[in-house]
Amino acid sequence: MSTFLSSNSSQLKFSKKFNQLSYNNNNNNKRITSRVGFRIGASSEESKPKPDLSVNVNGLKMPNPFVIGSGPPGTNYTVMKRAFDEGWGAVIAKTVSLEADKVINVTPRYARLRAGANGSAKGQIIGWQNIELISDRPLEIMLKEFKKLKEEYPDRILIASVMEEYDKHAWEELIDRVEQTGVDAIEVNFSCPHGMPERRMGAAVGQDCVLLEEVCDWVNAKATIPVWAKMTPNITDITQPARVALKSGCEGIAAINTIMSVMGINLNTLRPEPCVEGYSTPGGYSCKAVHPIALAKVMNIAQMMKSEFDDKHYSLSGIGGVETGSDAAEFILLGANTVQVCTGVMMHGYGLVKQLCSELSDFMIKHNFSSIEDFRGASLPYFTTHTDLVVRQREAIRQRKAIKQGLQSDKDWTGDGFVKETESMVSN
Ligand SMILES: Cc1cc2nc3c(=O)[nH]c(=O)nc-3n(C[C@H](O)[C@H](O)[C@H](O)COP(=O)(O)O)c2cc1C
Repeated sequence: MSTFLSSNSSQLKFSKKFNQLSYNNNNNNKRITSRVGFRIGASSEESKPKPDLSVNVNGLKMPNPFVIGSGPPGTNYTVMKRAFDEGWGAVIAKTVSLEADKVINVTPRYARLRAGANGSAKGQIIGWQNIELISDRPLEIMLKEFKKLKEEYPDRILIASVMEEYDKHAWEELIDRVEQTGVDAIEVNFSCPHGMPERRMGAAVGQDCVLLEEVCDWVNAKATIPVWAKMTPNITDITQPARVALKSGCEGIAAINTIMSVMGINLNTLRPEPCVEGYSTPGGYSCKAVHPIALAKVMNIAQMMKSEFDDKHYSLSGIGGVETGSDAAEFILLGANTVQVCTGVMMHGYGLVKQLCSELSDFMIKHNFSSIEDFRGASLPYFTTHTDLVVRQREAIRQRKAIKQGLQSDKDWTGDGFVKETESMVSN
């Protein structure tokens, strides 16, 4: 049963946001009109219009569901502008906080896992670990860059990612200053695994539902634009913080941030990697290797959202190991509205979005889907419990045996299709 949990703060944010929307993309309108004919009027493959990749998420209209995930690909004006120019559906900037001078990064801060023989420099990169903190660039500069980008790209979606200490006034100030730049939405980073837990930031909040509820209340009381809560996978049941965030007025959930990891030990020096002055610290794991784990977490959250929240008002952003249109289709089939890419952009560049769009379009054409909503969540009903799998398999075997038994008797042969009937006996 679907229960609509509304909050005054989120309703206020919706109405304000809808009034503000000035998106006027004629191309997009054309696509929607022609989409009607996709099923009815198309007579040949050539005359079929392309599938419509555009999405409308919490009132934010994007030309496609591909969003730059918070991290190095959204670290400054130049790279975010590049992302818009290449055609990304939206950009989430690198996480900002009030006092950038407290953020001190180290080098090296990345380590990679390659497929194939251990240590092979040639194997494909499948895992990526970082011990990078949030943005160490001064907030004033980041805010100026957000403002400039919104002035230059008023119809494109720019989302600020924020993180602060456990202090109501600090959160209020940060939300206020970020909103004044004209960004379209805010993603709250409750998930950075190495994000200064001693300052009660990032995953330290996302892993504690009591703290999380309080911070979400502060944020949503202040924010007048949509707020997404970014979840950490480093928790037993990810649906618990996701539920708390939505009940506290957030409009969307983004999952997952990186998975806590130790990348490896150098077997010559016996020191852990990445090695900083002989020492290391557990970091965040991303890239292809985390994709199946991210799918499971997104599936869990999507099931919870479907049963407890009104789908029309809340959104889900799938993140983790996306490098192809097929990876993205999987997140959407589980219920994600948008798909974020971080490490994939670091490895393949901003032009990756063209390949992602074309591969997703090919998938949609193959299945005759004309819009993202046509298949969003389509695979979700096929998850069940292991106990139910046993029941289903027992019943399927019983039915197959019944057919087999029937054909074992000569008297049941119909005289038609002897070959087919005997083959089915063998395969059973
Ligand atoms: C080098 C690096 C820096 C990151 N910095 C941030 C950050 O500042 N804020 C944030 O919310 N997530 C950050 N992330 C996490 C990503 O946004 C994303 O959730 C995660 O890497 C999984 O997606 P991916 O496999 O597409 O990279 C960072 C990831 C990497 C690899």
